[in-house]
Amino acid sequence: MMGTVVLATSSAAFEQKVRRAFGTSVNGSVQRQHTEGMFSDTLAVAKFLSSSNPDVIAIGPNVPVDLALEATRAIEDERPEIGVILVAEATSDLWEQALHAGVRDVLVPDATDDQIRGAFNRVLETAERRRRNLAVDAGVPESSGRVITILAPKGGVGKTALATNVAVTLAANGEGRVALLDLDLQFGDVASALGLEPENTIADLARVAGGVTATSLKVLMARRDESLYALCAPNSPADDVPEAVVDKVIRLLSEDFENVVIDTSAGLNEATLGAIDLSTDLVFLCDLSASALRGLRKVADALDSLGAVEQKRHFVVNRADSKVGITPSDASAIVGMEVDAEIPSSQIVPLAMNYGNPVVEESPHSAVALGFESVAGLFVDMGSDRKRGFSFRRNR
Ligand SMILES: Nc1ncnc2c1ncn2[C@@H]1O[C@H](COP(=O)(O)OP(=O)(O)OP(=O)(O)O)[C@@H](O)[C@H]1O
Ligand SMILES: [Mg+2]
Repeated sequence: MMGTVVLATSSAAFEQKVRRAFGTSVNGSVQRQHTEGMFSDTLAVAKFLSSSNPDVIAIGPNVPVDLALEATRAIEDERPEIGVILVAEATSDLWEQALHAGVRDVLVPDATDDQIRGAFNRVLETAERRRRNLAVDAGVPESSGRVITILAPKGGVGKTALATNVAVTLAANGEGRVALLDLDLQFGDVASALGLEPENTIADLARVAGGVTATSLKVLMARRDESLYALCAPNSPADDVPEAVVDKVIRLLSEDFENVVIDTSAGLNEATLGAIDLSTDLVFLCDLSASALRGLRKVADALDSLGAVEQKRHFVVNRADSKVGITPSDASAIVGMEVDAEIPSSQIVPLAMNYGNPVVEESPHSAVALGFESVAGLFVDMGSDRKRGFSFRRNR
């Protein structure tokens, strides 16, 4: 753990617990503040607790929940870069209230050492990134993670297959945490391709009363494993997700995750344009059909004329071994970009997608898995000579 932590509680036992959980790995400071009798003036409490510029404030145990939440609101207003952890018995009611107040995590008083370490480390990490982002201020925060948007104006060319396999590969290779965002808002099938049964979707986020916050996002995302989270598409194509929500979601995800992978719908709609705007990387995807290639060329030209030229563009050909009279080099000439990666055709892709097991996990040695991995390799910082050696670590 690195950073400064303030524990607002009368419980010396809880302080001992936190210190014990981190053992000697504390590289920062932990201080406990007595707050008894102070919580009637929550603004004063917020100021007092923030005065030592901590990264994280943990409120409780032994603090009445309503007062703790009020103090959290005040801290969130005054000092949004500080992360608040609430230590209280967690009921689903409490979670909802906590989420609205801006609490980043809830710990039960008898949390295990692992849970304590997990919560503090997560919140510290985010707090640090927020702090850096605040220092930079304005626009897309400079320290934000990579945002990779998969684009193909033609339907069915393999956007979802690519997005899911790239996300899984990045997450499994220790490239930091990955958020996979399904922006095919009407018919998105990321959840099914990954075998997830999400309780919530981006549509619920649009309905959260407190608006989209880092906390509400975290609560509503589906967790596949510790490094891969997905925000899934609405269950009904009729669910409306306002553009402002999409925009906020992408900004927050890029603050909290090292990698954001965005699957889009066919065509070029407002949500996709919004994603492009906030992306660091665009993956232009096609198969070897004339219509896919012409469509992609039009998108590239349209983005040029819209001035979307800062994002790094990558060109990937799917089903690249199809013998259909157009070769990858023809594709390169039509689209006007070098081909960065080729993915062969294979029956195991639809099979794996139907079963909800991505190919890179299901058949890691197959040529098609290596193709998906080579796309993930485009986003790994290593010398260009090592790029080709990038492979899926079979550590699951
Ligand atoms: N390399 C491949 N080899 C064989 N089948 C593939 C390959 N890539 C994708 N597919 C299959 O093609 C179909 C369409 O793929 P996918 O759903 O990923 O496309 P999409 O671009 O996301 O489509 P949509 O525009 O409908 O969202 C799926 O059944 C998928 O399994
Ligand atoms: Mg799709």
